[in-house]
Amino acid sequence: MKKPLIAPSVLAADFANLQSEVEMLNQSVTDWIHIDIMDGMFVPNISFGLPVTAAINKHAKKPLDVHLMIEQPDRYLQAFKEAGAATLTVHYEACTHLHRTIDYIKSLGCQAGVALNPHTPVHLLTDIIADLDLVCIMSVNPGFGGQKFIQHTYDKVKQLKGLIITSKSNALIEIDGGVNLQNAPLLVEAGADVLVAGSFVFNATDPINTIADLKNLS
Ligand code: DX5
Ligand code: ZN
Repeated sequence: MKKPLIAPSVLAADFANLQSEVEMLNQSVTDWIHIDIMDGMFVPNISFGLPVTAAINKHAKKPLDVHLMIEQPDRYLQAFKEAGAATLTVHYEACTHLHRTIDYIKSLGCQAGVALNPHTPVHLLTDIIADLDLVCIMSVNPGFGGQKFIQHTYDKVKQLKGLIITSKSNALIEIDGGVNLQNAPLLVEAGADVLVAGSFVFNATDPINTIADLKNLS
C-alpha cells in the first residue's frame, strides 16, 4: 500500500512539555507537524496561537502544517508564515473570497490548503481545486481532539480524488479527526495522501512506534 504522509497533531501533546514532545516527533518518521489553531469563534474552543507556534518551530525539524480554525484568516496569514508555517490551511466556511485568500497564501511562499467541515460538499471546490496544494477533509467537527471518526468521510475522499484527477490538480488529500490504525488503511485505499492523528499518537504508550505503524500500513 502507498505510504501516507503522517502529520501528528500537537493539540493532543503535553503542553507543559512541548519541547520534548517536538523532539520525540523529530526522532520519528513524522512527515509534518500539524498545528491546530482555534479562535473560540469559528470553533467553540481556543487552543493556542502565534507565540506557541513559533516556540514549536524553534525545535521542529519537520515542516509545520498549520490548520487555521479561525474566522477571517487573512488577518493572520503573514504572522503564521513568520511563525514558521510551511502549509497554511484555511476553512472553506470561513472565507468569503477564497480565491484571493489562496493567492495570498501562495504569495507568502506557503503551500495553500482548504479544509472542509463534515457538512460541506466536495463539489464546492470545483472552481478552485486546480489552485490548491492540499484539501483537508474534516472527519470530525472541528474544535476538539479525541472525537469519533465520521464514516461518510470515505465517500468524500473518493469524490475528491475523482475531482483532483479530472481537473489535473496536484492537491494532496489530508484527513483530520479520529484517525487510527483501523480507518487509516481504508482512507489510503480511498485516496488519502496525508493522515493527521492527535490522540491516537500522543495517548499511545509508544508514540514513535504508533507513528511508524500509521506510515507502514499493509
Ligand atoms: C480537530 C483538529 C484535529 C484534531 C485531531 O478540530 O483539527 O487536528 O486535533 O485530533 P484526533 O486525532 O484526536 O481526532
Ligand atoms: Zn487539524
